[in-house]
Amino acid sequence: MSVSAGTAGVTPDPIAAIVFDAQTIAAAVQRLAEAIVRDCAGEPVVLVGVLKGALFLISDLARSLPHTMDVTIDFIVVSSYGNADRSSGEVRLLKDTSASVEGKNVVIVEDIVDNGPTLAYLQRLLGSRNPASLRSCVLLDKPYRRSVDVRIDYTGLTAPDTFIVGYGLDYQEKYRNLPYLARLHDWVFES
Ligand code: PRP
Repeated sequence: MSVSAGTAGVTPDPIAAIVFDAQTIAAAVQRLAEAIVRDCAGEPVVLVGVLKGALFLISDLARSLPHTMDVTIDFIVVSSYGNADRSSGEVRLLKDTSASVEGKNVVIVEDIVDNGPTLAYLQRLLGSRNPASLRSCVLLDKPYRRSVDVRIDYTGLTAPDTFIVGYGLDYQEKYRNLPYLARLHDWVFES
């Protein structure tokens, strides 16, 4: 349950529409977890969350996996495009995983695949380190936006062609904390 703002009624509501509610997200995360269990049963698995966007996804996904499964969690931080235009496709590594992925069954956990260069970069980087297997688990996919081809093993939801915030996704670092995925009013981008 969220805490209501004391200024309710004074601050204009930035949310134009809920695109996927918390229940829909939870069901999608459950399906992702079941698919991972199906493919990785009996194997130790390393979930590598891509920060910051995947913070809630990896948290919910990891807790949806059975306690009998050998699961470890690591994080990687990349900056997609820096200050450059997204079409440049330039991705920079800001923080590497804490542990080596060599010989491990790795699942990259991403909040969204949009143009594709970020996941393509991560698959190249982690794939070059001789993991036993490398899979990618993505909550939101925008397949019609690709500038590069990228393989996704597990997809939660296909997103409409609109800018989405919440459940880890931000606009200027805000709105990540929303428990649902939403579209913002146009005035938010103009203010
Ligand atoms: C977002 C998102 C993905 C990437 C997808 O990250 O979390 O990592 O963009 O874009 P692409 O498919 O076009 O490469 P962002 O750079 O906004 O950083 P964040 O995770 O810290 O929000």
